[in-house]
Amino acid sequence: MALDEAALETLGLGTMWVRRGAPSGQGVVEDEPALEEPRAAAYETASPAARPAAVQSVEAKPVAREPESQSVSAAPTESAPGDTPVRPVPPETAKTIRIAPAPEPEPLDEPAWDDFEPVPPVGFDPAPASAPAARSADIAALDWEALEARVSNCERCRLCEKRTNTVFGVGDRAGDWMLIGEGPGENEDKQGEPFVGQAGKLLDSMLRALSLARGENVYIANVVKCRPPGNRNPEPDEVAQCEPYLQRQVALVKPKLIIALGRVAAQNLLKTDASISSLRGRVHRYEDVPVIVTYHPAYLLRSLPDKAKAWVDLCLAYDTYRQAIPNDKARS
Ligand code: URA
Repeated sequence: MALDEAALETLGLGTMWVRRGAPSGQGVVEDEPALEEPRAAAYETASPAARPAAVQSVEAKPVAREPESQSVSAAPTESAPGDTPVRPVPPETAKTIRIAPAPEPEPLDEPAWDDFEPVPPVGFDPAPASAPAARSADIAALDWEALEARVSNCERCRLCEKRTNTVFGVGDRAGDWMLIGEGPGENEDKQGEPFVGQAGKLLDSMLRALSLARGENVYIANVVKCRPPGNRNPEPDEVAQCEPYLQRQVALVKPKLIIALGRVAAQNLLKTDASISSLRGRVHRYEDVPVIVTYHPAYLLRSLPDKAKAWVDLCLAYDTYRQAIPNDKARS
C-alpha cells in the first residue's frame, strides 16, 4: 500500500515529506542510514555525542527538542503482500528530512481543545473520598452490552443533567490500538459518537498516516462519556466517576497501545499534572498498557508546527506498538 500522501498533506506535513529520490523541495534529504522512524527522530533530536545512545533506547530516552532544526521522519511506504491492510509498514526506507531552521517557540502547554472558557489551573485531584467505590466494583464485571447500557443510563455525576447523548466509544472492540480523548463536544453530544467534528476529521487523517482507520483495529473512547457544559474541561470528580467505565473498556478491548489525545486525557489517564510537553516522547502505562501522549487534534487544527511534533509522536506510537506485538505479527 502506498503511503497516504493525502493524509500527510492534511496533517500539514506534505511539504516536509519527500519520497526517496524525489526532489527535496523545501527540505534537505540527508543520506544517513535508514532508521526506524522514532529512532530516526531520536537520532535527529539528540546532540551528536548522544546520538548512539538515543538511537539505542527510544523508550528510555524522551525525544529531545531539536535545538537547531525540526526533523520529521518519513513514513512507512509499502506493505508486504498478504499483510493486513491496516498494519503500518516497516520503515526500512525511512529517510530523515531536515527542514529549514525555524525559531524555536517558547514551550507551550497545549490549551484546552476548545476555548469557550478559560483553562482552570492544572491539578489532578484523586477521586473524592465520597466516590462510591462499591457501585464501581460491579462495572469491572460487565460485558460490552451491559457496559454500554450502564453508561447510557448513567447518573453518577452532574454531567448527565445537560447531555443529549452519552458518548460511549466507537470502533473495533478487539482493536490493537485505543485512542482516548477528553470528552464529547457539541457534535459528539448530538450524535453520540466520539470525534465527529473537524477534530475528528484530522484524527482520521492521523490514523490514515499510520495506515490505520477508525473502526479497523482501532477503538476510540473518551475520559468522560458526557459533554461538559460549554466545552469546559471535565472536573476531577466527574473524571473519577467515569473512570470505571474507561477501565472496563480498556480491559475488554485489551489494546496493545493507547494514544492519549491531549493534555486533559493524558493527565487524567496518567494521574499527573505534568505538562503535555514533558509527557510526550516517553512510553507511559495505563492499566498496564503502553501509553503514548500526543496533542489533541482540535489543538493541532490551530497549530501547524505542533503537527510535525504529533507526527513524531505517532512514529513513537508505531514503534512501541511493533515492540508490543508478537514477532510473527510484526513485519521486520
Ligand atoms: N474532543 C474529545 O476529546 N473527544 C471527542 O470525542 C471530541 C472532541
